[in-house]
Amino acid sequence: MKFVFLADTHVGGSDTSGYMQQPRHLAHLPELIGLLAEWIDEQRDIDFVIHGGDVVESTTPENIRIAADLFSRLPCPTYLALGNHDLTTKNAVACWLEHAPQFFIGNEVDFFFVNDKIRVDIICCHWGKIPYFWRSSEPQNPYFLPAQLEMLNTRDQGKCRILVTHANLCGVPCEQSGMDYLLHVPGKTFSDELKQLTQKFRVSLVLGAHNHINLNTKLNNVRYVTGSAFCETPFEFKLFDFTDSHFTMKTISFSDYVNFKYKYDFNKTFVQGRLCDRSFKEHFQN
Ligand SMILES: [Fe+2]
Repeated sequence: MKFVFLADTHVGGSDTSGYMQQPRHLAHLPELIGLLAEWIDEQRDIDFVIHGGDVVESTTPENIRIAADLFSRLPCPTYLALGNHDLTTKNAVACWLEHAPQFFIGNEVDFFFVNDKIRVDIICCHWGKIPYFWRSSEPQNPYFLPAQLEMLNTRDQGKCRILVTHANLCGVPCEQSGMDYLLHVPGKTFSDELKQLTQKFRVSLVLGAHNHINLNTKLNNVRYVTGSAFCETPFEFKLFDFTDSHFTMKTISFSDYVNFKYKYDFNKTFVQGRLCDRSFKEHFQN
């Protein structure tokens, strides 16, 4: 079973403002998605795409429809873990379900599915006082609601479990960033809760985004992975491949294939990560 993981397409945003780690090229998203569609076609065995959130810059019906149209060009389904930028209005969830229900299952933005014994739980994390609503003026404190976690308890356990949410899950280690402190560390309560959940439900892989950085951390036999933004140079995504005995991750860049000029900040190559941050092979525990 193979799937693509990408994040942070920020449809409707600007190339000159907003959080970014590398230069954005939003006008070229149609070309980038076109390249991805061709690439998936060539592979022939990609089952689905997971978007880790921040599909749009702000939650308007127009942005959602543009994003839905872009991803409808892919030859396989795309499932979405809503990010903070996807929740900028109080009616954001209703707006997504009205204009792009195909990103979700069962008309719920928290959902799970099983594919070839792999179970994927997609859970929207909340950032401020009001669930499913993000205000940029509020401090960012990701959390889940108890009702969302009940979903993890449901049957259909699958052989291997993957948890997807938009929040970044671990800090960037000094060895990767070259700095003398951990970068982008999530709140302790949230990361402790995540670690407990992974142990309780025997999760093998946790996928996140939000930091726009390729990160690959192994803690207690669980892989915590985040990816750089698909709309930022060098236009990267992840390929996951699950077999009966192991699973692998590769990071793939489209920078050699695009038909436009792009910029890259060579002072921040840590965003792309070292080889060990960009790929791994993990054997299942018996
Ligand atoms: Fe983002």
